[in-house]
Amino acid sequence: MKSKNILVTGGAGFIGSHLVRLLVNKYPECNIINMDVLTYAGNLANLKDVEDKPNYTFVKCDICDFEKVKDVFTNHKIDHVIHLAAESHVDRSIIDPFSFAQTNIMGTLSLLQNAKFAWEGNFKGKLFYHVSTDEVYGSLGDKGFFLETTAYDPHSPYSASKASSDHFVRAFHDTYGLPTVISNCSNNYGSYQFPEKLIPLFINNICNNKPLPVYGKGENIRDWLFVNDHASAIDTIFSNGKLGDTYNIGGFNEWKNIDLIKVLIETTDRLLGRPKGTSDTLITYVTDRAGHDLRYAIDATKLKNELGWEPSLQFEEGIEKTVKWYLENKEWMENITSGAYEQYYADMYTTSK
Ligand code: NAD
Ligand code: TYD
Repeated sequence: MKSKNILVTGGAGFIGSHLVRLLVNKYPECNIINMDVLTYAGNLANLKDVEDKPNYTFVKCDICDFEKVKDVFTNHKIDHVIHLAAESHVDRSIIDPFSFAQTNIMGTLSLLQNAKFAWEGNFKGKLFYHVSTDEVYGSLGDKGFFLETTAYDPHSPYSASKASSDHFVRAFHDTYGLPTVISNCSNNYGSYQFPEKLIPLFINNICNNKPLPVYGKGENIRDWLFVNDHASAIDTIFSNGKLGDTYNIGGFNEWKNIDLIKVLIETTDRLLGRPKGTSDTLITYVTDRAGHDLRYAIDATKLKNELGWEPSLQFEEGIEKTVKWYLENKEWMENITSGAYEQYYADMYTTSK
């Protein structure tokens, strides 16, 4: 790749930090500018290993702050945007939909408008890449998969806000000719994920002998992809994706929640040297999430056929690596589960469940 200035938004979050690491190491000739406001989910400790690299810069900035974003585009001569900054947790969106509309819709619009102004008259060689979710497609029954052509049918305030942002990105492509691309990925797992999401939350609770709050009957199905594979898919689409197009990302790896939870218990107990079955009794069925989508499943055939991308890792290997990482990085977990997290946990799982 020729020397470019690449703006990654939300680079201090879970997926963003893996992507920033990949880009900084793979493209030493490019400048990677990580723009993040550092909400509860943003953590610069996720990027300790790249913070001193000469091609890496961190800028603390809210994507909704139009004027400040404009300065970032000007000061860093941004050529490409890979946009991940978002409010990302469904349960929080049920409690506070406004902040999801603000960040995910208005924040995306602020970035699009800034890209349009900054690049006006010379869109050649520019790219606005929007990272989205399979949740915009809604919920599947027992059969079928989400295709790039599946109609949008979001149910949660989170997925509704992401769907809206996807529509704005397409509108900027179709109306102004802004060079855009969108990808919609399935559930990610791996290191550095904030422990509000199922996998890190449950690993942490198993370690601490705390109840494992399974929503409903645990029969909902999610399609899990190792986060480094998501980052490599973004890199592939970023480099070779067709402008104006959409790509679904997934690993054909569906798990019923309760079956996945049993794998987490087995793996964590084993790696902690506990007898098999020790943590089975922690499983606690709690009130279901409102509007809980039954099943997500991505058909990623287009990405494989057109751009040659495939996941690198089998789930068994990925989950083993992931549990090991959380067990070996207790300090990282302790640092983010003190203070505000304790209040969130109490509100979410003690009062309402
Ligand atoms: P995350 O919650 O871990 O990280 C989000 C990051 O965005 C944080 O660093 C946060 O500080 C930053 N941020 C939030 N609001 C901001 C604002 N107003 N201005 C600047 N920065 C802000 O999220 P994630 O799981 O890494 O997800 C990243 C993206 O990928 C999101 O757009 C999400 O919708 C999408 N996605 C996530 C998954 C998944 O399984 N986690 C799957 C598919 C798509
Ligand atoms: P989550 O990690 O929040 O991702 P998403 O809602 O975006 O798919 O949840 C994954 C699945 O796990 C989802 O079906 C909800 C369920 N879940 C629980 O059963 N208990 C929990 O405490 C959490 C956080 C999720």
